Amino acid sequence: MPIRPVLRMGDPLLFQKALPVKEFNTPELHAVIEDMKDTMNFMNGAGIAAPQIGVSLRIVIFGVGINPRYPDAEQVPYTILINPEITPVGDDVEEGWEGCLSVPGMRGLVPRYQRLHYKGFDPYGSPIDRMVSGFHARVVQHECDHLDGILYPMRIKNMTNFGYTDVLFPDLRVEDD
Ligand code: NI
Repeated sequence: MPIRPVLRMGDPLLFQKALPVKEFNTPELHAVIEDMKDTMNFMNGAGIAAPQIGVSLRIVIFGVGINPRYPDAEQVPYTILINPEITPVGDDVEEGWEGCLSVPGMRGLVPRYQRLHYKGFDPYGSPIDRMVSGFHARVVQHECDHLDGILYPMRIKNMTNFGYTDVLFPDLRVEDD
């Protein structure tokens, strides 16, 4: 299935609350997930949410192996997460730099909970239940925000920590955004 265009900030669909998936393991669901996967891989994203390809459903995909967009990042297991629920564990918040395929060419310093518990389902309806921290927790919060119509710039506390990637990090080579 094809690589789809990624909606960019300004598109009203990115600001909508996405709907829960009602039926698992359907050809339609697998087709959306394939498109998300292909699009994320093509763009070298650390994650993608269904609304970013124009599908307003509560589906996110994430995973970080060796990623040229995040050369120093901790690895995160490749995960397809449907109808996620996030519960922060403790109050610790950590700031970290984020980018987004819907906000190409930019980075911002975003506060996120350091630890969280998340639950949801895989494409076959099997439950996923994890306790995570650090970069894994950050990626999950970023992707799940997309399902509630929130883009990371909306979470930046100090807007002087938001800018063009090549200006903020002249030594970082980023080809894809
Ligand atoms: Ni994003």
